[in-house]
This record gives sequence, C-alpha cells and structure tokens, in this order.
Amino acid sequence: MQRPLVAPSILSADFARLADELERISDADWAHVDVMDAHFVPNLTLGAPVVEALAAASPIPLDCHLMVSDVDRWALDYAEAGAAGVTIHAEASAAPVRTARALRAAGARAGLALRPATAFEAYEDLLPEVDMVLVMTVEPGFGGQEFLDVTLPKLRRVRRAVDAADLDVRVQVDGGVSEDTIARCAEAGADVFVAGSAVYGAADAAGAIARLRELAAA
Ligand code: DX5
Ligand code: ZN
Repeated sequence: MQRPLVAPSILSADFARLADELERISDADWAHVDVMDAHFVPNLTLGAPVVEALAAASPIPLDCHLMVSDVDRWALDYAEAGAAGVTIHAEASAAPVRTARALRAAGARAGLALRPATAFEAYEDLLPEVDMVLVMTVEPGFGGQEFLDVTLPKLRRVRRAVDAADLDVRVQVDGGVSEDTIARCAEAGADVFVAGSAVYGAADAAGAIARLRELAAA
C-alpha cells in the first residue's frame, strides 16, 4: 500500500473565501472539490469555471469529485480546467472506460466512484483503466454526515482486488471520515482520505490534517 494521502473537502469551507480556505489546507496532499448538479445528488455547488479559478489559486493539486448526471459529457471540462484528478460516478456514466481514457489523455488521473449501494464486482475488470477507486462512505450530497460502517466490506474487496492485480490504483474514502473513523478505513485498505467537516470544522486545520495522517498510517 502507498503512503496515505489526506484530501480535505472544500465543501465545508467558507465559499466566499475559497482562495484563503485553500491556503488553510496547504499542508494536505490534495484539495477535494465536490461538484454537485442538484440532479445526481440533491445539492448544487460549483462547476468548471470555478474549478479553473481554484486550480490557479491552489497551493496543492485539485481532486475533483463529480456528482453529476450524464458525467461522460462533462468530465473532460474539469481536466481541462486544471484538476489533477477527476473522479466520475459509476452510476452516472454510460461509458466509464471511454471517459477514463479521455481524462488520462488530457493528463488527469481518472477516478471511479461507487455509491454505498453500488457493487464493486461489476467494475472490477476496469481497474487497469483507472488511477483511483472512490468508495463512498456516506450517501453523496452533503458534508457532515455519519460514517456508514456497512461500506467497509466493499472497501476490503476493492483493496484485495487492487493488490491481487498489483496495480498502481489508489483507494479513496469520502464521507464521515474523522479522527474516530479514519483508522477503520485505513485498516480496511483505504489510502486516500477525504475529510470535510473534520478539517474545516477544526480551529487548527493543519493540526487536524497532521492528526488524520498519523492515524491513517498507524
Ligand atoms: C459528500 C462529499 C464529501 C463531503 C465530505 O457527498 O462527497 O466530499 O464533503 O464531508 P464530511 O467529511 O464532512 O463527511
Ligand atoms: Zn467528495
């Protein structure tokens, strides 16, 4: 398994001060950007023009998590806007291989996300086509939700498949990740940890990031 990465989600940041909020997490590995369209999920955030501005302002690479319907149509815009990684939801993609290849051709890392009720097995054969699998540990849509332990068996299955295939594929968790839950995720095989409220809700964001990193590596 690779060095654990911490990716704070700016969903819990102050949207009126995003450049400053990115500076607050400059010790983190990636800034996680949640794109929501009020259709795939019942919430609306931001789109590619804002991601382009964030990419120019951010001290660390942007990890874009697209929670949008018809994602094959939109994904490339985010790579072109400067995101280092673009993750599409399996449930929103009719052609995940084509979209992942287009993202990689544009120089971005390609991620594939699975909602809690989406089985990994249907996507297992696609592992060589992606750089990351995102196992959602809450129903996507909002920050600050309670971690769902029922997602841990799937996380283990993804880790086993990645290791068995000996692939350079990251395994990310997103939703309810905190000082209380991160060790469970690490033990089950995650190596990229998204945390929104646990980082932005802390007075000392850098301290929160350092503690999460330590707990993930323990
Ligand atoms: C939820 C988003 C998450 C969210 C996590 O749909 O994908 O990235 O910001 O927030 P916390 O860490 O507060 O659960
Ligand atoms: Zn996310």
